[in-house]
Formats: sequence, C-alpha cells, structure tokens
Amino acid sequence: MLRFNNPSFAAALAEIHTKCFEAPWPEPIFKDLLALPTTFGFMVEQAFILCSDLGTDLEILTLGVLPDYRRKGLATELLNALKQYAKDNAKSNIFLEVKSTNTPAIRLYQKNDFVQTGYRKNYYHEGNQTFDAMCLTWHQKTSD
Ligand SMILES: CC(C)(COP(=O)(O)OP(=O)(O)OC[C@H]1O[C@@H](n2cnc3c(N)ncnc32)[C@H](O)[C@@H]1OP(=O)(O)O)[C@@H](O)C(=O)NCCC(=O)NCCS
Repeated sequence: MLRFNNPSFAAALAEIHTKCFEAPWPEPIFKDLLALPTTFGFMVEQAFILCSDLGTDLEILTLGVLPDYRRKGLATELLNALKQYAKDNAKSNIFLEVKSTNTPAIRLYQKNDFVQTGYRKNYYHEGNQTFDAMCLTWHQKTSD
C-alpha cells in the first residue's frame, strides 16, 4: 500500500478511473487536485482512494478498483488505511458523497461503519441527467 500526494501520480490514477466510472475524471483534474497540499491518497496497482484533508476531518474525493479485481477486499484495505491515517492524525470524521444508485459502493461503506448523514438531490450532473447523492460519514470512536 503506497501513500501518495504528488501530481506525478495523476496519469496512473486517471487510467484506473477511466475503467471504473462512466464519467471519469481526466488526468488534468488529478494533477490540479494533487497540486494542492491538502490532497493525498493510498493506492495499490489495481485500485486507489483519493482524499482531501479538511483540518479536523477528511473527505473521500473518489475511490476505484479495476473491474477484474473487485470483491477481493481491495476497497476495504484502502478504507482501513485511511481510517488508520485518521486515527494517527487525530481526524474526527471521514465524509463522502456517493451516487444514491451506486449500491456496491453504498454497501461497501455501510459494511465499513459509514452512516448516512445527509441526502443531496440532483448533486451529480452527467450530460442531461442528474443523480442524487447520499452523504455518508465515518465517526472516529474516542475509545479506538
Ligand atoms: C465500490 C467498489 C470501490 C468496491 O470495491 P471492492 O474492492 O470490490 O470492495 P470490497 O471487495 O472491499 O468489498 C467489501 C464489501 O462491499 C460490499 N460490496 C462490494 N461490491 C459489491 C457489489 N457489487 N454488490 C454488493 N455489495 C458489494 C460487500 O459487502 C463486500 O463484502 P463481501 O465481498 O464480503 O460481500 C468497486 O466496485 C468500484 O470500484 N466501483 C466503481 C467505482 C465506484 O463506484 N467507486 C465508489 C464511488 S464513491
């Protein structure tokens, strides 16, 4: 598991993203995000998670696992790496938005102790279509 925070990773992330999403982010978006001091992520060869440091909290910007490598626990490993980072760096919460129709991702997050904390109608715009977002949060337990 590699932690990255450098724009030189943009091409590798865009390549995985293209194979994971119907509306993938192009390489320049990853370059711009990783040029910010607050953006970082964790990756293995077939998967990555990209995050933003919000000070006392973290936000998941995107997460993708190549189709042939799914249901092998890779996304769970990435989430565990991020939770460990949150614990080590005194971050209270991890936030994210997920398309309300994305059942695999919602199940993944629920299984990993994320709970729904909001709902945003028409949050995603793809061509002429809009999609609602569920807002999910993982709360650090003070006993952890
Ligand atoms: C969602 C995604 C990241 C899951 O990655 P993954 O490596 O397959 O996830 P894991 O193997 O760690 O799965 C952990 C649990 O999540 C749930 N889950 C994952 N994929 C699922 C699916 N297709 N259907 C139902 N539940 C699913 C299951 O509970 C699974 O546990 P199990 O395999 O023991 O039943 C992957 O499908 C993906 O990249 N999808 C496209 C991009 C995307 O939607 N990203 C999230 C945007 S926020």
